[in-house]
Amino acid sequence: MQPALSEQKRKKASVTLRQMQIDDIATVFHLGERLFTARSAPNLFRTWDEYEVINFFQNDSEYCLVAETDDDTELIVGFVLGTTVTKSHSAWKYGYLVWLGVDPDFHESGVASKLFHRFRDLMLDDGARMLLVDSEADNEPALQFFRKMGFNHPQEHIYLTLNIDPHRQKKNGRRKSDNGY
Ligand SMILES: CC(C)(COP(=O)(O)OP(=O)(O)OC[C@H]1O[C@@H](n2cnc3c(N)ncnc32)[C@H](O)[C@@H]1OP(=O)(O)O)[C@@H](O)C(=O)NCCC(=O)NCCS
Repeated sequence: MQPALSEQKRKKASVTLRQMQIDDIATVFHLGERLFTARSAPNLFRTWDEYEVINFFQNDSEYCLVAETDDDTELIVGFVLGTTVTKSHSAWKYGYLVWLGVDPDFHESGVASKLFHRFRDLMLDDGARMLLVDSEADNEPALQFFRKMGFNHPQEHIYLTLNIDPHRQKKNGRRKSDNGY
């Protein structure tokens, strides 16, 4: 008899990693939808939507990995999507891990660690010298995870917002009077 998911969760999950395929896009998107709500998205300028997954698949498919269970169900229970970043005036290439997610039923059973280590190896092969991640300051599981993977030197980055909607009315009013009506 198959052990209950909660029991499976306590031990290492038996998963195989592979590159994401076109048929996985919907599954990865829906898994991400459960993980990255507007509240818990890692940053303000990225939103989890189907275009995000498609863009990574189109532009950086070598850095799009999924973790699939080794049983008959072959369920996708985790994924990582990333890219590389080069900067002018710098000889360094950076690996940027943008999205990392694991099905909550499989949390804390080593799936993300496996995905991360494969991602890091791919980046090493591609000549990256530094890896970057970002996370909300209160996403403790993610922060603990990244610390465990060896990330350090967190840099504070503060996002400020300005609601420019009130300026729209003023601007529209001005445009109308400029046009003489
Ligand atoms: C963060 C996340 C990817 C971790 O996935 P995971 O498969 O559960 O992680 P692992 O089982 O490989 O954990 C490895 C280590 O990370 C740390 N860790 C993971 N989850 C943790 C938690 N909930 N609390 C504290 N530490 C945690 C532990 O140190 C753990 O080592 P241990 O098992 O020896 O204790 C997962 O919680 C997740 O999908 N969160 C939602 C999406 C998200 O926030 N992604 C990150 C930003 S893109």
